[in-house]
Amino acid sequence: MQSKVVSNMAINSPFNKSTPTSYKTTTKKSNRVTTLVGQQPISAVIAHPLPPKVTHSMPLEKKELFRSLESWASNSILPLLKPVEKSWQPIEFLPDPSQPFGDFTDEVRALRGRTANLPDEYFVVLVGDMITEDALPTYETFINTLDGVRDETGASPSPWATWTRTWTAEENRHGDLLRTYLYLSGRVDMLKIEKTIQYLIGSGMDPGTENNPYMGFVYTSFQERATFISHGNTARLAQKGGDPLLAKICGTIASDEKRHENAYARIVEKLLEVDTNEAMLAIGEMMRKKITMPAYLMYDGEDPSLFDNFSAVAQRLGVYTAHDYADILEFFIGKWKLEKLTIGLNGEGRRAQDFICGLPLRIRKFQERADERAKKMMTRSVKFSWIFNKEVTL
Ligand SMILES: [Fe+2]
Ligand SMILES: [Fe+2]
Repeated sequence: MQSKVVSNMAINSPFNKSTPTSYKTTTKKSNRVTTLVGQQPISAVIAHPLPPKVTHSMPLEKKELFRSLESWASNSILPLLKPVEKSWQPIEFLPDPSQPFGDFTDEVRALRGRTANLPDEYFVVLVGDMITEDALPTYETFINTLDGVRDETGASPSPWATWTRTWTAEENRHGDLLRTYLYLSGRVDMLKIEKTIQYLIGSGMDPGTENNPYMGFVYTSFQERATFISHGNTARLAQKGGDPLLAKICGTIASDEKRHENAYARIVEKLLEVDTNEAMLAIGEMMRKKITMPAYLMYDGEDPSLFDNFSAVAQRLGVYTAHDYADILEFFIGKWKLEKLTIGLNGEGRRAQDFICGLPLRIRKFQERADERAKKMMTRSVKFSWIFNKEVTL
């Protein structure tokens, strides 16, 4: 039996069909061969990345372009960060441990009362989201792989490095808050969750961005919007399930993600303005590879399909789905006005443009067929260690 969301994207994927064969390098061809040979059934939402093939794909002289954009980044990107003194902190949403012990335990009891009616499957998704947030060291490491924008010293004053450190500091609150809330709820197995986090940070991730900031910022734009959507949906479900404070927490995190999405999308917009062809090729290349979810290597020491199973539950609850992926792509095609761009594109750039702009429709058709097939399959249940090995329907 197969998971309902599982589909053999490796072969039939709309990402590969009609893909231009040469709008950049021959690497795509060899990657595609690897994909076909691999033939791994993978989730329509997440798709594991291809083996790393290319590093440092941005020509070194383009580092100069990022240097020339530093004052623009200072004026247009850094203001999208929030000063610490104006930022929320996790403790503001949590029982205050400095109050008299009885008052503290009353608050914990109230928290447990609110979470009591949330279903186990909701906790699977919230835990998966929290673990994804908690693997933050991996994401800062990833951004610092990008040529021309990495933090060269660890405390570099460059606006790119300043952004990355301050973004990380903002993001750090997300995992902390969700983790503590989940801990206090008593509904989840913290030992298994903590092991998963340790495994995940140890495994890292390879989003296939080739040390290339053009691709890197396409990836982060997508990821921030994906997390904006999924935290928004966990907020909605928490409200429906009787926990307005958890809804507020998820909504507050979602609004941070939205602000971060705006920053990354603004960078891609600027790259499209100053280096249209290279930026279009980078978007096309990331779309061809697919945007992988950052926690695709998650493991709890027990379930080798943990990420696929978590993704299947997220898809079934409507927290993050293949349709959301198509929506995100459509959103950015509109925001970046990709269909309308004509100046500055060469033949490869135009082929990438055609591929990108035609992709949402192909993803939707592909997903409709996958949904039809899934309806005919039997449902199955899987045990999640995070919720004390209780079974959840995929
Ligand atoms: Fe986050
Ligand atoms: Fe984020």
